[in-house]
Amino acid sequence: MVKIIKFITSNQHKVKEARGIFEKFGIQLEHEDLGYPEIQGTLEDVARFGAQYAASKIKGPVIVEDAGLFIKALNWFPGTYSSYVQETLTNKGILKLMNDVEDRYAEFRSVVGYCTPKSEPEIFLGTVKGHLSYKERGNHGFAYDPLFIPDGFNRTFGEITREEKNEFSHRRISLEKFASWLKFNE
Ligand code: IMP
Repeated sequence: MVKIIKFITSNQHKVKEARGIFEKFGIQLEHEDLGYPEIQGTLEDVARFGAQYAASKIKGPVIVEDAGLFIKALNWFPGTYSSYVQETLTNKGILKLMNDVEDRYAEFRSVVGYCTPKSEPEIFLGTVKGHLSYKERGNHGFAYDPLFIPDGFNRTFGEITREEKNEFSHRRISLEKFASWLKFNE
């Protein structure tokens, strides 16, 4: 049986990635740009609160997702400020901060929050490890993708296709954890 779940996000890139990832799980994703208050806190706090808020508004099962880029040499900045930093500092600003920095370790984290009007929120974390490039590379993907080289690759997320990114990205891991959980819990 196909399950229908609403993905509450304003980011079309995320919707396209999620649809690709869910294909093999028999989950049909509907998209709604409802908007929800992004509270101050960890990715987990934001996802938990957002899912609960959206499920009560929509009156049905929803997922939300909160993600960020965490750079070790910058004390895990921008992290939960990723959205604001992307809009203000941009990728060029991040590269400036990392100008002479040798330790380029970074990771993307994605937390999916799932909730129904009758249940408490559940959260699912996905992390992908890698390092930062020295310049923006590639036109695929979005936001920080042209900066991030996943472990085992020499191309950035901006230089690979959505299908390739979907094979092992942070979002793939968090959404797949959610899909497996759903299979056994609904
Ligand atoms: P959000 O709050 O989860 O929408 O994401 C925080 C910031 O990280 C936004 O600027 C996003 O565009 C960016 N971001 C989230 N996921 C990714 C990704 O998979 N690749 C590149 N940037 C991302």
